[in-house]
Amino acid sequence: RRAIELAAARPHDGFTAPAAGRARVALVPTMGALHDGHLALVERATEVADIVVVSIFVNPLQFNDPADLERYPRDLEGDLRTLTGRGVDIVFAPDAAELYPHGDTATRVTAGRVGSLFEGRSRPGHFDGVLTVVAKLINAVGPQRILFGEKDAQQVFLVSRMVDDLNMPVAVEVVETVRDDDGLALSSRNRFLDANERRAALTLPHVLEAAESASDRGIDAVLAAAQSAAMGEQLVTVDYLAVVHPSTFLPVDDDYTGKARVIVAAKVGDTRLIDNAAIYLG
Ligand code: PAJ
Repeated sequence: RRAIELAAARPHDGFTAPAAGRARVALVPTMGALHDGHLALVERATEVADIVVVSIFVNPLQFNDPADLERYPRDLEGDLRTLTGRGVDIVFAPDAAELYPHGDTATRVTAGRVGSLFEGRSRPGHFDGVLTVVAKLINAVGPQRILFGEKDAQQVFLVSRMVDDLNMPVAVEVVETVRDDDGLALSSRNRFLDANERRAALTLPHVLEAAESASDRGIDAVLAAAQSAAMGEQLVTVDYLAVVHPSTFLPVDDDYTGKARVIVAAKVGDTRLIDNAAIYLG
């Protein structure tokens, strides 16, 4: 405390200023193609910070499929227009050579066991790529707070674990999933859906609703209800459907009661979508 008092008594030279006197910086990491889901994170950031930084970077490290990376939507001009007048102070939109000057990274953050389940099983290496770029963005920008969407629940879990595991000096804030009026979670990938697929994509929120309505009857009932809601739609192929524990992100035991999360991923035509919801298992 004495050191802080001494620092506070000295003129502000940028080195000795106490942390409490510094501007609060919040970072919203994105891959661009911004929609109202991203903007909910931006809006929340403006409520909690003095300086809001939005990063836009389609991170090659987190794409295991080159075709997926290739077709990922990019619209920097449109994104900059979208962000205008929304209280954003800095848009950080590096190119790959700026963020990865050595080409590949010799050092990576690895996501551990949960990193190879669910999204990680379908996309090997995906979460190592996510965590590595998020660690780089935290170090480059130096925010006190970093905001993520609940829509990507496994990403939220793994980023929070990284921050804890590596003592990163940043707080992770989670913002609720933004949905279209009919319940479909907003996603940059929704633009790939044709009219039939867009209708079929409602299977995902329907699965979550079915799980929620069965949640007071235990895990077996939840899974049965969710699975039956997932069937019967020709255009939809479920990749995984699971109920996980909030503190481990591993499937809950048969006799578990308490807070849990239903997670689902499905291909609708050629487009892979994910969604999730918190439930309370009775
Ligand atoms: P991206 O898919 O662009 O998403 C950026 C952020 O927006 C993520 O935190 C995501 O969860 C959030 N988001 C997306 N759709 C949302 C919705 N409908 N409602 C609320 N939030 C939503 O996630 C990534 O990029 C990348 O993996 C990244 C973290 C930037 C690392 O490259």
